[in-house]
Amino acid sequence: MNYSVGLTSILVVDDDPIAAEALRYTLTTFGYDVTVAGDGIEALAHVRTGKFRIVISDVEMPEMSGIDLCREVRKRDACGYTYMILLTGRCDTDSVVVGLNAGADDYIAKPFHPSELQMRIRTGERLLALESRDLMIFALAKLADRRDHETGGHLERIREYSRLLSLELATDPEFSEEIDEVFIQLIYDTSPLHDIGKVGIPDRILLKPGRLTEDEFAIMAEHAQIGGDTLKAVAEAYPKAAFLQMAHQITISHHERWDGSGYPNGLAGRQIPLPGRIVAMADVYDALTSQRVYKSAYPHHVASKIIQEGSGSHFEPRIVEAFLTLEDEFLAVKEHYDQRRNKASDQFLTQLPPLTIGAANSPEMDRT
Ligand code: C2E
Ligand code: SIN
Ligand code: SIN
Ligand code: FE
Ligand code: FE
Repeated sequence: MNYSVGLTSILVVDDDPIAAEALRYTLTTFGYDVTVAGDGIEALAHVRTGKFRIVISDVEMPEMSGIDLCREVRKRDACGYTYMILLTGRCDTDSVVVGLNAGADDYIAKPFHPSELQMRIRTGERLLALESRDLMIFALAKLADRRDHETGGHLERIREYSRLLSLELATDPEFSEEIDEVFIQLIYDTSPLHDIGKVGIPDRILLKPGRLTEDEFAIMAEHAQIGGDTLKAVAEAYPKAAFLQMAHQITISHHERWDGSGYPNGLAGRQIPLPGRIVAMADVYDALTSQRVYKSAYPHHVASKIIQEGSGSHFEPRIVEAFLTLEDEFLAVKEHYDQRRNKASDQFLTQLPPLTIGAANSPEMDRT
């Protein structure tokens, strides 16, 4: 594991040993840890070790070209992104397009100035840092979610449903101004945080097998305010972080209802931020079609009926319409994660054991 920014490991791939050594020298003076591979096959073996997040490859090489190498690397990107920079002597647009299509992130024409290369590598490092950020946020959301969702998959589905609804609404001129590519990426990344405030709800309520009493539900409902307040504090400290703004909007407003009868603020209609209106539907669909400690899973058609009945009361009618055009896609997402749950090989983050707080710890705590 490599924690130091100055020691990023870079893999250089070039069949010309002199060019490769020159590049190694330059990159080493920039402070990178450099390994050289003489061809694509050797490079792939290095990439598979997971040590290299940045690869700089020549395009024209015998056996496997830099472009084929990109394709191969992209096939196996599952455990973290590899940032690929291609180097070529030919700076014609055709090879640029072919390289980018093959999955290259950047493209530098030889000869290049070392400081240009350094700048391109920094761009790659920034992108990789963002990926780590997204994964960390998702891991924290998972930690909170493990208490009440033993079977997993809830957060993965919520973000897929939220993205599907956003993509569909974006085709409507009424929404297309607000829902752009950035919006869709942000809702995908922040919707898993919607229930983060549940960390403040005691087990006896969160995990109660039956219906909640009115008092218990009032405590349960605080999760929206707790999550909202927490993210608001951070969002105010970093007002330019759109990510935090949306995370705040979603946590605070995902239980508001279109007719104003929701919580915590009783907002109505378009007073409710759009991401909250979208995640509300994603969340309810998932709650209805999943087993909870307090309910069994309903089949899709029952969930669909409940959502349609909620049009204009719980949900914005236009979002219910979007849902109705997406029913097959929703079902496909649900079935995908139902299948994943049965596959032992696919348990990364999807199926962590449930966290028990309180009950399991209390005997020891009593002793102190
Ligand atoms: P959740 O389980 O993720 O449910 C999210 C939302 O889905 C609920 O928000 C509700 O709008 C909808 N929903 C869930 N189950 C049903 C259902 O059977 N019928 C209908 N029509 N809608 C349903 P809500 O009601 O504000 O609840 C927020 C959270 O409070 C729930 O999140 C759950 O963690 C908890 N909760 C709600 N009711 C109970 C309950 O009776 N027992 C327990 N133990 N927890 C409950
Ligand atoms: C992301 O948040 O974009 C990556 C996290 C994941 O796919 O699990
Ligand atoms: C529930 O039954 O758990 C909540 C139903 C609702 O309030 O819509
Ligand atoms: Fe919630
Ligand atoms: Fe939820």
